[in-house]
Amino acid sequence: MLAIEIRRPGDPDVLTLVERPDPEPGRNEVLIAVEAAGVNRPDLMQRRGHYPPPPGASDLPGLEVAGKIVACGAGVADWRPGDSVCALLAGGGYASRAVAPVSQCLPIPRGLDMVSAAAIPETFFTVWTNLFDRARLKPGETVLIHGGTSGIGTTAIQLAAARGSRVFATAGEDERCSACERLGADRGINYRREDFVDVVMDLTDGRGVDVILDMVGGPYVARNLAALAVEGRLSQIALMGGDAAPIDFRRLLTRRLTITGSTLRPRTPAEKGVIAVALRQEVWPLLESGRVKPVIYKTFPLAQANEAHRLLESGGHIGKIMLVV
Ligand SMILES: NC(=O)c1ccc[n+]([C@@H]2O[C@H](COP(=O)([O-])OP(=O)(O)OC[C@H]3O[C@@H](n4cnc5c(N)ncnc54)[C@H](OP(=O)(O)O)[C@@H]3O)[C@@H](O)[C@H]2O)c1
Repeated sequence: MLAIEIRRPGDPDVLTLVERPDPEPGRNEVLIAVEAAGVNRPDLMQRRGHYPPPPGASDLPGLEVAGKIVACGAGVADWRPGDSVCALLAGGGYASRAVAPVSQCLPIPRGLDMVSAAAIPETFFTVWTNLFDRARLKPGETVLIHGGTSGIGTTAIQLAAARGSRVFATAGEDERCSACERLGADRGINYRREDFVDVVMDLTDGRGVDVILDMVGGPYVARNLAALAVEGRLSQIALMGGDAAPIDFRRLLTRRLTITGSTLRPRTPAEKGVIAVALRQEVWPLLESGRVKPVIYKTFPLAQANEAHRLLESGGHIGKIMLVV
């Protein structure tokens, strides 16, 4: 197979196209002929040497793919060679062949092409487990989503709006705030020239929001707590702004707040399978009706993975950056 290796930790040019033997599917795994793969921010961290693959996972980057099954390991009953799938991976997606546990495979939603299908797993699994499982966002509640135009943000805005929430989202430019509004946010907040706490308080008549999905952390933690309503929940999925922050625990007590956080990649196939079942039931109908759509910003051939990383690193994108095999 063709694959993109990380030659050594470093800048995008350490990504190198190589030939390798095809991986073999183990028990309850399938081998996929990859047609498209998603590029995600955790891949940049892995390339720089800060996010090693969990034990047993491929050393190649790539957390999601779509393609056709070419071989099934022992114990696989529900899938056959020739079936089209999209799959969440613990690694190995930047390649023309990838192995996935069956519990992490889902059918391509009707009406979607392979590139759109490959853009689903990493962000939809992450948003589902953090926004709806852990932070328990319910219809009728209000939610603030930071990084509204990121792969995660574009997914979270659409899902929360489609499931009946009032959504606010932050982004770093007016044009990207408008993009958040086109995706279903009531109001995009330009965090470079507006204070999101003031805006949220203003828009909720001083009540605050029920849930916040945050990838910034650091200086945002105290401000997030200030923007939450009584019984509010903060769901932390990344710490781009720093991993330590002072917390006013009085606020936590008096307003009965919950802080939670999680990472997806190290969870077991069985744990990821539980999320897959929920997505199939709750989200696949939204994808198949066109109510929710993966937002694709740009595609690159697999061999240009370094260019894809450069673009993601430079920011300014709206939605997902994809590799086509
Ligand atoms: N916990 C998990 O399981 C998990 C899984 C997947 C991803 N993640 C994390 O989720 C984040 C998003 O991933 P992605 O692949 O969707 O990345 P991405 O598309 O590169 O998005 C990064 C986003 O961060 C925004 N941002 C940076 N500083 C900000 C600030 N001060 N306020 C508001 N937004 C800010 C950027 O918005 P502007 O360009 O508008 O500044 C950009 O939209 C990453 O940090 C990633 O590591 C976590």
